Amino acid sequence: MTTQEFLGKENYTVTSQTVSESCPSNIALIKYWGKYADQIPANPSISYTLNHCKTNTILEFLADQPFSVQTFLSGNEEVKFEEKIEKYFKNIEQYLPWILRGRYIIKTENTFPHSSGIASSASGFGAIAKCLMALDELFSGKGSEEESLGKASFLARLGSGSACRSLYNGLVVWGSSDVVEGSSDLFAVRYPDEDIHAIFKDFNDWVLLIHEGQKSVSSTVGHGLMNTNPYAERRFQEARENFIPMKEILKNGDMERFITLVEHEALTLHAMMMMSDPAFILMKTGTLEVINKIWDFRKETGLPLFFTLDAGANVHLLFPNNGAEEKIKTFIESELLPHTQKNGVVKDVMKF
Ligand code: DP6
Repeated sequence: MTTQEFLGKENYTVTSQTVSESCPSNIALIKYWGKYADQIPANPSISYTLNHCKTNTILEFLADQPFSVQTFLSGNEEVKFEEKIEKYFKNIEQYLPWILRGRYIIKTENTFPHSSGIASSASGFGAIAKCLMALDELFSGKGSEEESLGKASFLARLGSGSACRSLYNGLVVWGSSDVVEGSSDLFAVRYPDEDIHAIFKDFNDWVLLIHEGQKSVSSTVGHGLMNTNPYAERRFQEARENFIPMKEILKNGDMERFITLVEHEALTLHAMMMMSDPAFILMKTGTLEVINKIWDFRKETGLPLFFTLDAGANVHLLFPNNGAEEKIKTFIESELLPHTQKNGVVKDVMKF
């Protein structure tokens, strides 16, 4: 599909409406880090969609009033977010021609702690894109579920790249890859269920809240720094190549190779940050302490506990439900929780 196919229709009956939608967050296994104009990713990425970490959004549209956006997060007005959303809405007018024909009141709530540092842009833009598609269908008629999700993913991408993956459950790919049929730079697609071994369908993600609060460098700035990073091209190529072993691993359930690949991706992401100019480091002492403890634990027990990181200090602890999970949970509670700021952990599972 091309961008042209997402352009808006000709006829709309625009009325005041209130819609509400919910969208989960996601955690990437092969990372998106670096992009071109119009939110085109420099390499394909694959993520797990989470189950409990979600954004719930109520969007009130008041037709035929001057265009403006008011946003509330957990009841508090968020002016910074309003500017961002206004810019976003103006940017997607060609795909939703009615979008500037009214006033918006957007109320959002995250199911995860506000200051946790868990990325809310993926679930946040995912939920807004779903609300916009709900309005579009009220104004111009319903298309197929598949079309609607595809366009919501396309629109979510224009808000925040990783958000486009949150529209689907399971393992989700965004970015064109030779080894994933139907994959596209413009929207995400679900990784085929039949190509995923059962062991990867019943997985935990416990997020250790190592550092709560604002990150020192935003993802958007971080992506931008890849433009001048001397290792960027090699990294983009490696991410593309990593889809080849990932496909084999997902099919045959090779946990050992999965662990090696996923941890390598996480460390490469942070290595890229350290190689940027100016350099930056988002990991904290606790992040490194936890990583070392995970490696020691694996060496001693052979149990499949491993980690990934997003653009922050928190550690996503990944482990399957394959019989050893109680031992792993006990280890996390006793050995890893002390490295968090306030005994903070968000216990999530992958949604299939
Ligand atoms: C490290 O999607 O937050 O989480 O497109 O600028 O909004 P923007 O960036 P964003 O970047 C996420 C980067 C990442 C890796 C990933 O989710 O693939």
